[in-house]
Amino acid sequence: MKTSIALIGFMGTGKTVVGKALAEKLGKEFVELDSLIEQMAGKTIPEIFKEDGEIAFRELEIEATKEVSKKKNTVIACGGGVVLNKINIDRLRKESTIVYLTASPRAILKRTLSEGETRPLLNVQDKISEIRELLSFRRPFYERAADITINTSKLDIDSIVERIMEKVKEDEGFNR
Ligand code: S3P
Repeated sequence: MKTSIALIGFMGTGKTVVGKALAEKLGKEFVELDSLIEQMAGKTIPEIFKEDGEIAFRELEIEATKEVSKKKNTVIACGGGVVLNKINIDRLRKESTIVYLTASPRAILKRTLSEGETRPLLNVQDKISEIRELLSFRRPFYERAADITINTSKLDIDSIVERIMEKVKEDEGFNR
């Protein structure tokens, strides 16, 4: 049986805050993939994008995913682009139920703005158009990867955590 949960979804859908709260509630370890990548590279995500480029970042993301995907009893908050390389999802699926968090472009804009300039991909003038464009390209990747989908737009963190716990239980029932 799978004992880990991997949270996927676009930037600003709450993967990190929800992941931490979920891990605490379930008594599981919490790992944020982006932090692991920063540790491996010895620099921040914006620095990696600026100095080495997105392709180098994606390679590090594949390495980091390979490591965390072996973990049992862990909640993993993935970066928004983890679905772009299928190998990542194939690896994560071995120990993890994959939970896809969605939100409207407006909610994403609001949340990412409140978190400051930490996302190199949203470092553009017209952020809402960029979000819409990236989302429409990525949506099929997220949908294909997801075991469970939760729309977070109108929910607070505790309600998202509750809903994930309910749905994971149902999903385990189906897969037994
Ligand atoms: C990215 C999302 C970011 C981070 C990097 C690239 C993406 O993670 O991995 O900036 O391609 O969507 P968050 O989703 O945690 O912001």
